[in-house]
Amino acid sequence: MSRKFLVALGSAALALSLAACSGGGAGSGGDTGDKKPGDLTIGVSMPTQTSERWIADGNAVKSKLEAKGYKVDLQYAGDDIPTQSQQVDQMITQGADVLVIAAIDGTALSSQLQAAAAAKIPVISYDRLIRGSKDVDFYVSFDNYKVGVAQGTALLVGLGLLNKDGSKGTAKGPFNIELFAGSLDDNNTQYFFGGAMDTLKPFVDAGTLKVKSKQTTPEQVATLRWQQETAQKRMENLLTSSYNDGSKVDGVLSPYDGISRGIITALQNAGYGSGAKKLPVVTGQDAEIASIKLINDGVQNSTVFKDTRLLADQAVNAAEAFLQKKEPQANDTKTYNNGVKVVPAYLLPIATVYKDDIKATLIDSGYWTAEEVAAGQAKK
Ligand code: GAL
Repeated sequence: MSRKFLVALGSAALALSLAACSGGGAGSGGDTGDKKPGDLTIGVSMPTQTSERWIADGNAVKSKLEAKGYKVDLQYAGDDIPTQSQQVDQMITQGADVLVIAAIDGTALSSQLQAAAAAKIPVISYDRLIRGSKDVDFYVSFDNYKVGVAQGTALLVGLGLLNKDGSKGTAKGPFNIELFAGSLDDNNTQYFFGGAMDTLKPFVDAGTLKVKSKQTTPEQVATLRWQQETAQKRMENLLTSSYNDGSKVDGVLSPYDGISRGIITALQNAGYGSGAKKLPVVTGQDAEIASIKLINDGVQNSTVFKDTRLLADQAVNAAEAFLQKKEPQANDTKTYNNGVKVVPAYLLPIATVYKDDIKATLIDSGYWTAEEVAAGQAKK
C-alpha cells in the first residue's frame, strides 16, 4: 500500500476508532438496519441562527426525528466555516449514524465528508448543495431555478410589466432597477440569480429595464453570507453613486428577505416611502415574519415561500431510508451536479407570496398566525 494512500486513510481511521470508542450509535453507520431508533443519532448541522428560517428548519428536523424516537445532535455554526467543520467532525467522532448538513460554504466540508464516508455515515445535503465531493448521498431542497424565475417575475409584476397570470401588463417603462444576489459560496445563488436574470433579460435587452449602476455580474451584485447589513451598505452606495442626479430606483431584485430588509432600510433612510418618492418594488425569499409584515403593510412587494416543514419531512424521510438501508426516494436525478457527481435530489415546489396571498398561503396553512403577521414577529 502506498504511503500516500495510508496518509489519506489516516483521518478516516481516526474517525472510525474514535467513533467506536464512544458507544451508543458509535461508528454504526454501516449496520444501522437492525438498531432501534433510540440507539441511532442524526447529526444536524445548520449554518446560522441569525436568520429565522434556519431556526425553523433546525427545530422542524429535530422535532420530527425525535417524534420517531431518534436521537438528534443539532448544531448551529454562527455562519463561521471553521466552526461548522469542527461541529461536523465532532458529530462523526461521536458516532452519528446519518448527517444532515446545510453548508455555509458549499465547498468547505470535503475532508469531513471523506471521514463520514470512511465511517459509512450517509450525508444528506440540506437545501444548499455541498460541492466538490463524491461523498454526498442525497439532496433535499426546492426547485431553486424556479425560485429565481419567481423573483424575476414578481419584479415584473410589481412594476406592472406583467400581470400575475403572466399576460402583458399595461406599464411601459423604462424603469430603473438594481440587482442583488446571495452569497457566492452558496450553490443556490447561481440558480436564484440565473433564473431571475433569464426572466428579466428580454426586458433589459428591450431597454424597458435599465440597471442604472451597470452592476450586473454575479461578483458585483453578490452579498457575502447573505447579510442584511452588507446589502444595506451596498444599496446606500448605489444610491449615492448612481441616483444622485434626481433619478429614482423603481425596482430591486432581492434573493432573500434579510437582504430585502437591508435594501428597504437604505431606501427609507434616503427618503423613499415618504411623500411622492415611492418605495421601489423589492422582491424576497423565505417568507420571514418580519418581511411578511412589510408585505402586508405594502412596503416589500413579495417573497418566495418555501415550506420548511415539508423540507424537514423530506430530510427525515431520507435519513430514515438510509438508516433502514434503503435508497431515499428522489424526484430529480439530473439537475444537481456538484462538480464531482450528480446528487440525487428531492425538490419541493415553491410559491410566490404577494400581499393578497398571505392569508391563503401562510395563515391558512398554519405557517404564521394572523397575530404574528400583524406583529411582524414569531410567537415561539
Ligand atoms: C439559501 C436558501 C435561501 C435563504 C438563503 C439565506 O441557501 O436557499 O432560502 O435562506 O440561503 O439564508
